[in-house]
Amino acid sequence: MALSPLLRWGSIISVIAAAVFAYSFQQHPFLFTDVHNEPLPVYCYQNVRTHDAADPSATCFSVEDGLFRYVWTQDTDISVSDGFAIPGLWDGHGHLLQYGEFLHSVDLFGSKSLDEVRDRIKTYLAANPGAGTKGQWLRGIGWDQSAFGRMPTADDIEQDDELRGIFMMLDRIDVHCSWVSQAVLNLLPEEIPDVPGGDIIRDPGPGVFCDNAMDMIMALWPQPGEEEKARAVKSAMKELNKVGLVGMHDAGVTADNVRLYSKLANSPDWTVRVYGMLECAKRNTFCPEDTPQISHPHGMFGLRSVKLFADGALGSWGSAMIEPYSDRPWTSGSLLINASALTEVTKSWAREGFQVNIHAIGDLANRNAIDAFEAALKEQCGQESLADCQSKHRFRIEHSQIIHPEDQKRMHALGIIPSIQPTHATSDMKYAEERLGPKRTKEEAYRMKSLLDIKPVLGSDFPVEPPNPFQGIYAAVTRKSPHTGLGPDPKNPSEGWHTQEALSLEEALMGFTQNVAYGAFIEQYAGSIRRGAFADWVVLDEPLEDMDVEKIRTLKVRETWVAGRRVYSRDETRWPLSDSE
Ligand SMILES: *[C@@H]1O[C@H](CO)[C@@H](O)[C@H](O)[C@H]1NC(C)=O
Ligand SMILES: [Zn+2]
Repeated sequence: MALSPLLRWGSIISVIAAAVFAYSFQQHPFLFTDVHNEPLPVYCYQNVRTHDAADPSATCFSVEDGLFRYVWTQDTDISVSDGFAIPGLWDGHGHLLQYGEFLHSVDLFGSKSLDEVRDRIKTYLAANPGAGTKGQWLRGIGWDQSAFGRMPTADDIEQDDELRGIFMMLDRIDVHCSWVSQAVLNLLPEEIPDVPGGDIIRDPGPGVFCDNAMDMIMALWPQPGEEEKARAVKSAMKELNKVGLVGMHDAGVTADNVRLYSKLANSPDWTVRVYGMLECAKRNTFCPEDTPQISHPHGMFGLRSVKLFADGALGSWGSAMIEPYSDRPWTSGSLLINASALTEVTKSWAREGFQVNIHAIGDLANRNAIDAFEAALKEQCGQESLADCQSKHRFRIEHSQIIHPEDQKRMHALGIIPSIQPTHATSDMKYAEERLGPKRTKEEAYRMKSLLDIKPVLGSDFPVEPPNPFQGIYAAVTRKSPHTGLGPDPKNPSEGWHTQEALSLEEALMGFTQNVAYGAFIEQYAGSIRRGAFADWVVLDEPLEDMDVEKIRTLKVRETWVAGRRVYSRDETRWPLSDSE
């Protein structure tokens, strides 16, 4: 196709010059008009990937009121913007506010020793006066005790002259444990009783609290005010737009934050669509009085789901297994809620019309989640088949990491949606086989391809992993680390991990577009470029399907558009931009 010289200087600008339809308006050509006879903006690219089965590719679309109005292909006399458009990407499981707080806190990811942690804290404190005080605790995330050779303690901070006395709470890499300082320990009662579903680490010394035991720390933490939270959300959204995300599912929003999101969703800084999962003040309870279901008129915020937690995480042996861990044969992890209580609370939420999304990592937790969903569907469905009924309720398992083969069959039969983070597989591949042994790893763990028929929702679990969906796509397609490009075997590093579960590029893209939309009941609006859908798209330099897969893990998007508005442009000189171009 012949490209006009326009594209050299006008890579962003909406352009169309069809001989018959061309119509010039204030230097911008437009095509078609709205009900008031105003011209609609038109955008043409070298190619548009639509994810619309009827018409998988196009070259142009027009936008009206934040929605795609027309999508078409034009071969002749066409002036196009430089680049290749794809539907806007969604992250199916992340934590918006925590990600924003992470951007404003101590980054401990990859720290290799306690000394390095202390150094990073000191650097942060020097740049952020006021942090570490009683009213403004120092926060951070990303430590991993395997780098220290033991669990960290409050004393590791207290023994340092420069850090003594600070108030701090640092989250483990999987956010299932918190490490606090002596000043925080001093706020707790002398005798701390054990917590069901929680772990208070006492060896080699006090300071770390896991799973349900974290609640007593959270209760003491001086919550950031609304202004600070709004700042965190804004920072998070900017970063998300930068990697091509137009929407995300927030896997745990408290009622207070639901109210905050409802308010912020009307502001121009709210540039990422959010689908919320309500998290009750007390985990795994029934709290419908806390918030109504929400459907923001422009689709910027919605909530009709609830998050429950069946177990903890694999890294800290907290996930609940049917059989003991291979590397800790005296334990099989622990449930955060027993099977009958999980079923009861699931049924209560289903009666209330909520989608129920259960965090389940271990195969026992996944089994209990499926049991709970099956019981709730039986109660809800009457004469209808359970699978048809599930297509209305769309119950999901968040993580779906280790699932017994018998339970995989039940998931397929019922259509329970797996919500999967491909980069968890490639981050865990170093130790998963030690925890699980070869048989369970092969038959049960980190499945993707074999779950394709039940529309796996893909995501990253940011801030646990970076939010970049192209890293997720790379991990799904190659089953290798997007950070190194390597598999788990040092002798054969170009080989991915259990590649029989790898997805094709097309399948991975569906996981970050249409499946995420389906998992939030908005498949007619999100995940594709077609008439009536949200006008959300991403512009790339090259067509994805022609790219060398190794380039995908470092791919940088050129532009991101949400509701017909450009929210990110790589070309800094053009940023920030007005709404109306
Ligand atoms: C399950 O948990 C509930 C609520 O904590 C408790 O009342 C019940 O006795 C437990 N059931 C079993 C079988 O342990
Ligand atoms: Zn999560």
